[in-house]
Amino acid sequence: MPKIVTLPGDGIGPEVTAAAVEVLREVAPDLTFEEHAIGGMAYDAHGDPFPQITRDALADADAVLLGTVGGPQNSPWNSLPRPMRPESGLLALRKALGCYANLRPVRVQPGLEHLSPLKPELARGVDILIVRELLGGVYFDQDRKIDGDTAYNTMRYTTPEVERVARMAFWAAEQRKGRVTSVDKANVLEVSELWRRDVQALRDREYRNIHLNHEYVDSVAMLIVSDPSRYDVIVTENLFGDILSDLAAVIPGSLGLMPSASLGDGAGLFEPIHGSAPDIAGKGIANPAAAIMSAAMLLRHGLGRSDAANQIERAVALALREEPTRDLGGKADTRTFTNAVLEAMGTPVG
Ligand code: NAD
Ligand code: IPM
Ligand code: MN
Repeated sequence: MPKIVTLPGDGIGPEVTAAAVEVLREVAPDLTFEEHAIGGMAYDAHGDPFPQITRDALADADAVLLGTVGGPQNSPWNSLPRPMRPESGLLALRKALGCYANLRPVRVQPGLEHLSPLKPELARGVDILIVRELLGGVYFDQDRKIDGDTAYNTMRYTTPEVERVARMAFWAAEQRKGRVTSVDKANVLEVSELWRRDVQALRDREYRNIHLNHEYVDSVAMLIVSDPSRYDVIVTENLFGDILSDLAAVIPGSLGLMPSASLGDGAGLFEPIHGSAPDIAGKGIANPAAAIMSAAMLLRHGLGRSDAANQIERAVALALREEPTRDLGGKADTRTFTNAVLEAMGTPVG
């Protein structure tokens, strides 16, 4: 009986996580679920955005399903010392799990081109995997400070950090079209010079079957939306990957269609890439597709159950055709969409 730790978190997190758990229960009735606190609500309840009780629950977890963390711009959480803020809880969770590679697929399913704001001929057939480095760079480096009118953060990478995430990208590419684009800013940054050198050296030593090229992040920001079909696997550092993946959400049509899997040393972490969406939280209208597709990634990457994952992904594609949510220009609320997914899986809706 695999144990799934669920961390619904803040804002729309509880709404979309509940939908994902419903779908998981139908397709994998043997799973057990244990819910814990993370983010702002964990700070309010325990004085810590990643409390010890949550940390302890991870020890024997087979996978972790996360919702979202964070409050609106005027939230009192945003005035807390940085380590106590909701987002710091999420970063500490990623670190505790050793999840250094964040897989963010960007896919336009056949027949769903109309959900994209891009011309159908540009959106059709897009299938990109962004592999975002998740435990390094400016996010985690301790050489950081704000002091009066001066502040700085440090983007630092070491060769082992670059190699382990690059390996993940090459491994993924071997099961896809065999093409990797490494994204950096090597025309300006030393840290990118090291990144590019190490990714290329690893390819030349161990992955000669992979076609590797290097592109600058500013250019990729343009090309990913104007010619998305040029990409298979993209591998990049933490901050670049964060920004490029929200941008890439434009291709399928919404942040609500972007799931992720964070893999590394131990149990995997599965979460939508979107935030807590304070503007729509509590209204029952959030698009739960990204959370439900993250549950599919949990089955595939966390538990090795590809058939069940495929079943969910097929059902989500059907539901998106029949009952699109409001972020996609449709009318369905969270409940209606989730019911459509359950129905498409062949489950009677109670
Ligand atoms: P956001 O992703 O929460 O929202 C951006 C826009 O997209 C909003 O208009 C929102 O309504 C919409 N949106 C996002 N997800 C949606 C969904 N599933 N269905 C329908 N619409 C959706 O980004 P933001 O407003 O910049 O950030 C809000 C909070 O979330 C901040 O506190 C931020 O730090 C946090 N955040 C958390 C995560 C995470 O938990 N992984 C990710 C990003 C941002
Ligand atoms: C994401 C989010 C997080 C990140 C924040 C909330 C810490 O934007 O998962 O993309 O920047 O990694
Ligand atoms: Mn982000």
